[in-house]
Amino acid sequence: MRRRREGGPGVLAAVLVVAACTGSGREGETPRFGFGREPSPELLAAMDIDVRPDGKGLPEGSGTVARGREVFALHCVACHGPTGTEGPFDRLVGRDPREGFPFGEKAEYLGTRTVGNYWPYATTLFDYIRRAMPQTAPGSLGADDTYAVIAYILHLNEIVPEDAVLDARSLPDIEMPARDRFVPDDRAGGQDVR
Ligand code: HEC
Repeated sequence: MRRRREGGPGVLAAVLVVAACTGSGREGETPRFGFGREPSPELLAAMDIDVRPDGKGLPEGSGTVARGREVFALHCVACHGPTGTEGPFDRLVGRDPREGFPFGEKAEYLGTRTVGNYWPYATTLFDYIRRAMPQTAPGSLGADDTYAVIAYILHLNEIVPEDAVLDARSLPDIEMPARDRFVPDDRAGGQDVR
């Protein structure tokens, strides 16, 4: 019969955890692990681009539907089609079905989810487009043109009027058609499934 060796992997792991916790210098300081480097303010700013549903994180700037029509024609139309419905890639425009919310239940509605019938927050458009679109050059649109192309997409979806001007104050105020179809997931675990 073999005896368990003293100081096996379990002990080593415990020693490493203690070392990681105690090797951090004085109390209250951010722990340091002896690798990596301090990010520059520029690098942090380039990465810190999330926009929350309530609009936190939206930059200064503004854009009109008219300017958005130009931006869309230049940078989006090749992949999303002249009216945002033709593709070849994701359909961005469409309010139907206006009643019910059958996307999970009926196979024929798969692939018909759009900004107009599915997205709960207009602010997510800013986060997503700045982060990911145009797919060939994400991040290349400035803040004004991002607001503008969002205004145009929302106008095509019959959500804002032709003369809408979007900025950090007006974008969070837009009530999206699918807004009440989503709830914050505050389940604490266990059996409570909505
Ligand atoms: C080279 C092709 C290409 C170009 C150009 C392009 N897109 Fe996209 N777009 C895509 C693809 C592919 C997806 C799906 C990406 C995925 O699901 O990961 C997408 C997804 C999207 C979505 C999310 C759709 C949804 O409901 O999930 C939005 C919004 C969007 N694009 C906006 C734009 C805007 C605005 C522009 C122009 C500024 C643009 N795209 C330019 C290819 C492109």
